[in-house]
Amino acid sequence: MSINIESHQNEKRIFKPAKEFSRKARIGSMAQYQAMYDESIQRPDKFWAREAADLTWNTKWLKVLEWNPPFARWFVGGKLNISENCLDRHLQGPRRNKAAIIWEGEPGEKRTLTYQQLHREVCRFANVLKRQKLRKGDRVIIYMPMIPEAAIAMLACARIGLTHSVVFGGFSADSIRDRIADCGAVAVITADGGYRRGSIVPLKKNVDDALQGGTSTVKRVVVFRRTGQDIHIEEGRDVWWHREMEYVDAQCPPVPLDSEHPLFILYTSGSTGKPKGILHTTAGYLLGAYITCKYVFDLRDEDVYWCTADVGWVTGHSYVVYGPLAMGATTLMYEGAPNSPDNGRFWKIIEDYAVTILYTAPTAIRAFIKWGDEWPKKYDLSSLRLLGTVGEPINPEAWMWFHTVIGGGRCPIVDTWWQTETGGHMITPLPGATPTTPGTATRPFFGVDAAVVDDDGNEVPPNVGGKLVIRRPWPSMLRSIWGDKARYKKTYWSEVAGCYFAGDGAVRDKQGNFWIIGRIDDVLNVAGHRLGTAEVESALVSHEAVAEAAVVGRPDELKGQAVVCFVTVKQGVAATKELAAALKKHVRSAIGPVATPDDIRFAEALPKTRSGKIMRRLLKEIAGGQTVTGDTTTLEDFSILAKLGASPDE
Ligand code: WT7
Repeated sequence: MSINIESHQNEKRIFKPAKEFSRKARIGSMAQYQAMYDESIQRPDKFWAREAADLTWNTKWLKVLEWNPPFARWFVGGKLNISENCLDRHLQGPRRNKAAIIWEGEPGEKRTLTYQQLHREVCRFANVLKRQKLRKGDRVIIYMPMIPEAAIAMLACARIGLTHSVVFGGFSADSIRDRIADCGAVAVITADGGYRRGSIVPLKKNVDDALQGGTSTVKRVVVFRRTGQDIHIEEGRDVWWHREMEYVDAQCPPVPLDSEHPLFILYTSGSTGKPKGILHTTAGYLLGAYITCKYVFDLRDEDVYWCTADVGWVTGHSYVVYGPLAMGATTLMYEGAPNSPDNGRFWKIIEDYAVTILYTAPTAIRAFIKWGDEWPKKYDLSSLRLLGTVGEPINPEAWMWFHTVIGGGRCPIVDTWWQTETGGHMITPLPGATPTTPGTATRPFFGVDAAVVDDDGNEVPPNVGGKLVIRRPWPSMLRSIWGDKARYKKTYWSEVAGCYFAGDGAVRDKQGNFWIIGRIDDVLNVAGHRLGTAEVESALVSHEAVAEAAVVGRPDELKGQAVVCFVTVKQGVAATKELAAALKKHVRSAIGPVATPDDIRFAEALPKTRSGKIMRRLLKEIAGGQTVTGDTTTLEDFSILAKLGASPDE
């Protein structure tokens, strides 16, 4: 494993939380953090039982943790309902009339749903789902734009024990079809379309294409009218959301569910061609989302909190919907792109709603830097008190810009490291306590036993790179890969004995701060989105012209990594510019726009070892424009190297 550990060693700037911030924060000093962290590690049952008491339970648990490695059950014997925790329990006091969701559509519409109103909509929609004969344990695909109805659909499923699987609106029909088949979904909740950068994403059309052939397990499609464009309605299968809502009333008691009841499945890329269905269950997941909102965002009743992630990603699950609503907070949702109608949209939203907490991605921050300071400078951002980032390592330049230009130098930044699999933040500063330095996610959150180890599982000394592992279970951890326990065990718990291996490399410095280096498996991080190289490769070879393909990442100023594809074509096929364009389009329609290759490079052959393994390290170096270094003695055919440089795009 080779990782670059130099970047952090030059970074010496330390930013301590302002006294004023610390004084008001739930955790106001490192001493307090350390004491609570120590308790969470030494007496986890006591720690988690106390935090879990913040939630509303129908039946209290008998045992905090049952651990049969690598299978965990948390709060065994307990029963609760997430939608009750996110809604009903806030209706008793003044939060009843507080904004739960503030929403803005890309074209500019504004809607606010109070807790009372959101509760009513969720109950009604849960009744719609019941009327459609959906039953506890059924899987439901949600393929929606960023509109309140996406959250309503999720909460309605949770209310009656349906397991949802949200598919990001940027994924293609093929991706929807694969996910439906993998989880055996019986229904799809979608919209006619959604707005993105002024144009309409044809969501319903994609669902139609995914269901074509009629062999799908899906019996029902519920369609929300968002854009009003013409769509196909399949009689006997498709129903309109607004029509169905006319038949139901607003009484729908939440169903008490077992702590380990499957709440959702979320598909994410791994090192094989097939995305994995990450399974999260009820109580532990909710507690993870809740407790991190409480301590990492230090969420308050007065906050206007904005996480810019789409609900199609885990960040949208934990930090747009479940975490903030469980806290009784106000969560802002914006439907569209940051540059629609102009580059100032985010800053205008912050000014208009007096947003206090902004949680976004480094890739977005780098785009903002490129667009120029004049955009944020036009708006009043003085309401902001806390900033957060997630999705990839943040480069110090982006961190400093976020700190000074957006945060006005006064807002702490929480650089939160976590994953779809972890459910919630794992390594992160606490804003009132942790001194931060650009580029480090700092310390483990409560209950997280993180370490940097070598291939044998031994902790490496400070400032030496290794694998980032978690050495004990935590409440919001994934429980399995849907339908594939063996793969769960193999993927996450076999690489380093007894540990959860996250796929990331890291370095821990002398102060105990974690510096995440990035993925060390065959997974790319493109604009904060995870993309398996094997997934793109399998899309490429499904094209009739392609014989073989190898996909690697190239460092990219904006996206973090760009997708570079080395392709050999079948005999008799000409490697033309047109073919390169067709292949880009092919991958885009197989996976979705997030996977669009940046570069297609035709090669006569791919560099392989004598045993036939593609030498990705070489390809990475070539893609990055470096001269090939290091050991090439195992390379089967040296002449290949010289031939790999050219790209028809250049
Ligand atoms: C991967 C997880 C967690 C929600 C968004 C992505 C990278 C995430 C950070 C960070 C460095 C980060 C890791 C991780 N990552 N946050 N603060 N610093 N790297 O979720 O799609 O499951 O991707 O994103 O490589 O493994 P995901």
